[in-house]
Amino acid sequence: MSRVLRPLVRLPWRSIPLRPFLARRSYSTPSTEQAQGLKTDYLDLNRVISKHGFTDYAQEYLGKPAPEGIRLVKAKLDVMIDGKARGLRYMLLRDACQCNLCVDEHSKQRKFRTSDIPPVIVPRDVQWDGKELQIKWSTDIEGWGPDHISKYNVAMLKDSRANPPRSDTGTMRRRFFWDKKTMEECQYWVSYEDYMNDETAFVKSMRHLALMGIIFVKDIPDSREMVEKIATKMGPLRNTFYGPTWDVRSVPKAKNVAYTNVSLGFHMDLMYMNEPPGFQLLHCLQNSCDGGESLFVDSFRVADLVRWRHPERFEDLTKLHLNYEYNHKEHIYNNSWPVFETEDGDPKNRVIHVNYSPPFQAPIISDEHIHKHWPEYRRAFATFAGEIERPYNAFQLKLNPGECAIFENRRVLHARNQFNTERGKRWLAGAYVDEDAVLSTFRKCRNAQYHTWQWTRVLGPRNAARAAGEGEATAENHGTE
Ligand code: OGA
Ligand code: ZN
Ligand code: ZN
Repeated sequence: MSRVLRPLVRLPWRSIPLRPFLARRSYSTPSTEQAQGLKTDYLDLNRVISKHGFTDYAQEYLGKPAPEGIRLVKAKLDVMIDGKARGLRYMLLRDACQCNLCVDEHSKQRKFRTSDIPPVIVPRDVQWDGKELQIKWSTDIEGWGPDHISKYNVAMLKDSRANPPRSDTGTMRRRFFWDKKTMEECQYWVSYEDYMNDETAFVKSMRHLALMGIIFVKDIPDSREMVEKIATKMGPLRNTFYGPTWDVRSVPKAKNVAYTNVSLGFHMDLMYMNEPPGFQLLHCLQNSCDGGESLFVDSFRVADLVRWRHPERFEDLTKLHLNYEYNHKEHIYNNSWPVFETEDGDPKNRVIHVNYSPPFQAPIISDEHIHKHWPEYRRAFATFAGEIERPYNAFQLKLNPGECAIFENRRVLHARNQFNTERGKRWLAGAYVDEDAVLSTFRKCRNAQYHTWQWTRVLGPRNAARAAGEGEATAENHGTE
């Protein structure tokens, strides 16, 4: 049975800024005498140490004073970076060593376990020049000799993760929020040829996808194979019980709603799965019927509107967990999701995912908490749902054959208008790629072409027109209403 013949379609490191030592402890400003001769801000730290008599373990561990800008205490060292003191435990520094003894240079896999590090580990030598920290250890993991030196550059000390969530390629990256009008002016189009064969164009496309959550590919050869080609440039296909790719086609006298010509309301796909796909592709092969336009809404922007207008309703929606089901003979899936997922579940933090798919909602009758708080939850949910439907939020376009929308499934809501099957045909081919895979591609693009990634911005209409003269993709002439 086709994927559509179902109800509707298958139809931390937390960067809390550590305030500089002086400010944090509200010390008075240093005397002029003390201030004399200060060359770098990290000398502040040494001054604080001597003035306030913190127990300094440098003599004990190193047999000499610590280098400028470093303070050794019992289980950690403090280092000044960008004017801020960072406290780094010896044990976690040891754990973070990336030298060839600790990490295989080819596989990049670790050659020790965290639990192998002795419970008491301290340095016997520390070097710091403001850019690189070098440590020799007095007690080390068994088998690691006296020649072992751990080295850390400033970037590693700040955040050594391969793709930090708050970076511009991470799950909590900053987004460009859009509404109907902005999207009409700023939608991003790239030709199939450029997307596939011009790496700079691909990097720009991925940067737009990271920021806007949706991009469009045009001039795609007329073939059912293409959706896989476009998807696998971003990452491996996400296979589901609908298959690695799938079709949305209207058939006469269809037995089920999504294979009919009726409209589909705003939704996200596969919310009943534990890992709903991060990205979705819809490649148009035929669309000659009247109607059948695609609609998209930036749910992150709508969530933001709710947050600013009604913070308490926003908070309620971080707590309201809805149940999603796919319950048929062959496949039984069931998961629940809060409407708004925020960083650490804190309603003051950034939104990571929105979860909204009315057609796949299932009963929540057994949830006592929801019964108890239903009046607040109902009001909050109605506010969000009502805002999604406002005409100023929905961007509408009719995909033409040879065009493909790529969008973030857990941010950009999609819908379609009803269409008339008396005349013409409608056929979309779809595919999914997991969020992890696309985030990896974002990071790869950023590493390969840092300048292009960094300087690619969403262009407003005036700038877009200028860029058009320079061969940039723009929003013009793509059936925008
Ligand atoms: C779907 C879907 C969109 C369309 O099948 O889940 O959203 O335009 N289809 O038919
Ligand atoms: Zn090492
Ligand atoms: Zn859908």
